[in-house]
Amino acid sequence: MITLGIECTAHTLSVGIVRDGVVLSNVIDMFRPPKGEGMIPRKLADHHAQVFGDVVRRAIVESKLTMKDINLIAFSQGPGIGSALAVGCGGAKYLAARTGKMLIGVNHCYAHVKISEHLTGIKNPLILYVSGGNSQIIIEENGKYHVLGETLDIGLGNLFDNFARAIGMEHAHGSALEKFAEGGRYVELPYSVKGMNLVFSGLLTHAEKIAREKPKRDVAYSLMETAFAMTCEATERALFLTKKKGLIVCGGVAQNRRLQHMLKTMCEEDGVRFGVAADEFNRDNGAMIAYAGEFLYKKNRAAAKRRIESWKPIPNQRIDRL
Ligand code: FE2
Repeated sequence: MITLGIECTAHTLSVGIVRDGVVLSNVIDMFRPPKGEGMIPRKLADHHAQVFGDVVRRAIVESKLTMKDINLIAFSQGPGIGSALAVGCGGAKYLAARTGKMLIGVNHCYAHVKISEHLTGIKNPLILYVSGGNSQIIIEENGKYHVLGETLDIGLGNLFDNFARAIGMEHAHGSALEKFAEGGRYVELPYSVKGMNLVFSGLLTHAEKIAREKPKRDVAYSLMETAFAMTCEATERALFLTKKKGLIVCGGVAQNRRLQHMLKTMCEEDGVRFGVAADEFNRDNGAMIAYAGEFLYKKNRAAAKRRIESWKPIPNQRIDRL
C-alpha cells in the first residue's frame, strides 16, 4: 500500500510518501517570517498555497513513483492554525477528487507518536510530546490516548520562540536559541510544576525581565535548563505512576540535544528504555502523516470511505478526543 501524506498545521508545508511503513520521500518547505514578525496566519496560508504544487511534485519524483501508484491521500486535520490547515485540507481534497484516490484525516500529534513508536521500536511507551504549541505527557490504553499532564499555558517551543524574539534574535526559533545559550551560566529562575502539569508563562515573563540586566546568554541557558528540568520532573512522576518500561519523546522540541540527554539520563537511572526518532521525523513532516494515515486505514478501512467533501480541518483537535 502506498500513501501520500500532507502536513500543514503550522509553519511547514510538507509532503511524504510511505509504502507499507517504509518512507520513500519526505519533502519539507518551512515558512520563515521576516525578523521581528511572528507567524501571521494569512502569510502562512499564502506560503503554503504557493509551494503546495511544487512540494507534491518533488515528493512524487523523489519516491520514484507516479501519482497513479498512490492508493491513499492523508492530511493533517488538526490541531493547528486554521489558515494553514485549510490549505492542506483543501489541497488534499483537490488531489483526491482529481485522481479518484481515497482520503483520510490524521491528528498531527497522533502522527508524531505513531512514527516515533515505529522508528524507535518501543511498544506501548509513555509519550512526551513537546512542540511549539503543545507539551503533553500521554499514554495509550486499548487504542485510546489519555493526557496525564500538560502545559497549562504555552508550549515549550513557544516559550523559547517568544524569549528569542524578546531578546531581539534574528532567527527567533528554539534551535537558534539552543546554539546561542551554549556556554551560558545558570541564574535562578522560577520553577512551576503542578503534579504532572506545567506552567511556563511566569518563567517567560521573569526571564524577559532579567534579560534586560543580566547577560542574555546566561538567561537563555537558564531558561532552557529550568524548562527542561520541569518537563523531566513531570515526566518522571508519570513514569512512576504508570510503571511504563519505555519513554519516547516526540515533536519539534524533541530535537533539542540537551532535552534528549536529560531524559536519557533519567531513564537510565530509572531502568526505563528511552527512544527518540531522527530529527527529520520530529520536525513537522509529511512522511509521519502518510505513515499514520496508512496505519489508521489498515485498522479501520471504513475511515477512508467518507465522502471527500465531508472532511474539514479541526484546529483544536486533541489526541485524547479521537
Ligand atoms: Fe509537530
